[in-house]
Amino acid sequence: MKYQKMSELNTLDNLLKEKIEGKTILVRVDLNVPMKNGKIMDFTRIQGVLPTICKLVAKKAKIVLISHFGRPEGFDMSQSLASVVDELSNQIEQFSNCKTKVHFGVDCIGISAAHAIEALQNGEVLLLENLRFYKEEEANDKEFAKKLASKADYYVNDAFSCSHRAHASISGVTDFLPSYTGILLEQEVTSLERSFEAPKKPFAAIVGGSKISTKIDILTSLSKRADYIFIGGAMANTFLNALGHNIGNSLCEKNMAEKARQIIKEAEKNNCRIILPSDVVVAKSINDKYNTRNIDLKNIREDEMILDAGFETLVNWYEVISKCKTIIWNGPVGAFEFEPFNNSSVALCRAVAKLTSEGKLYSVAGGGDTVSLLSSAGVRDAFSYVSTAGGAFLEWLEGKSLPGISALMNCCTNKSKTA
Ligand code: 3PG
Repeated sequence: MKYQKMSELNTLDNLLKEKIEGKTILVRVDLNVPMKNGKIMDFTRIQGVLPTICKLVAKKAKIVLISHFGRPEGFDMSQSLASVVDELSNQIEQFSNCKTKVHFGVDCIGISAAHAIEALQNGEVLLLENLRFYKEEEANDKEFAKKLASKADYYVNDAFSCSHRAHASISGVTDFLPSYTGILLEQEVTSLERSFEAPKKPFAAIVGGSKISTKIDILTSLSKRADYIFIGGAMANTFLNALGHNIGNSLCEKNMAEKARQIIKEAEKNNCRIILPSDVVVAKSINDKYNTRNIDLKNIREDEMILDAGFETLVNWYEVISKCKTIIWNGPVGAFEFEPFNNSSVALCRAVAKLTSEGKLYSVAGGGDTVSLLSSAGVRDAFSYVSTAGGAFLEWLEGKSLPGISALMNCCTNKSKTA
């Protein structure tokens, strides 16, 4: 499959060359932020879209933000984007000299959205209510997309993390407006190109997590590109079991043994080495943190579970990684939510961060658990790029075309507004 190249997309820089003062720009962002008891737990996605918003503010455009939040079924005020608007406004205010007003519109289409857009002054921002209050959003309904576009002059997609969804605000809307990429989307695609599509070699991938059944496509596509794939987490148990090791009471997808052997064979054909742990940390249960053993694979007892990669594994993996030029990481390599079984994941991501800061490695990480791991190890800012995307990042690694990016590629920017 031909990959989706940034050079084939129309960037925000091109839009900024147009005379956009007073023009209405519909910007798809991803404000689907983690929330607990009404408090936003992570600001990364909000901070990620500030560069695009503030460039448009500086050009005195009228900025209309659209996003989904959660997975509501119909109108559900507990999933209203009203709970994000104050933080959005604070973050915009703190972002390099970006002075503007941020308004909230209680609907994303219809008369009230139209009035809110008409009332916008040049350089102001309006956040419209959750797109997923309408089932037509996820159905990629043409009429709904047309309504979203109806008051705008241009469309910008700055939601890479939603671009694996063929939804009206991501895909359908590009039929009605000249369409551009936002700065965050551009960064995401560029970093994936640099790390995955055209990496400097040697190129290694670290893939962890609990199930190989959810990562077969990723492993298959990585094995065509990478020189090494390090496999950790409970996924590694499935491979070890498939290769005939006794893994005691460890988590394992026994029905995936044949698939695991096929993946190894396929990788060998492509000159890609799959590297599994050579020693492991075991305990009788995940809560048994005081009775752990770091042992050779041969010594696992029937009542023990593998919960982390061992010390020798780390030393061996580091030796290979330190010779690599590019690394891509998805998934922790142990049961990282439970100390001390986070040790190898933390040590490994600190090692990758150090090699990156010494300029020896280009490192990209993505996926919810991986980002939490990097944050808890205090190295999130030390990676070359950390994706804001979960599902979209994984689908890209699987080698799939993302509908949101295809829509931007197919959209002729000179298309006149038909909505
Ligand atoms: C995400 O959190 O990965 C994006 O916001 C997409 O959300 P979705 O999986 O509900 O489409």
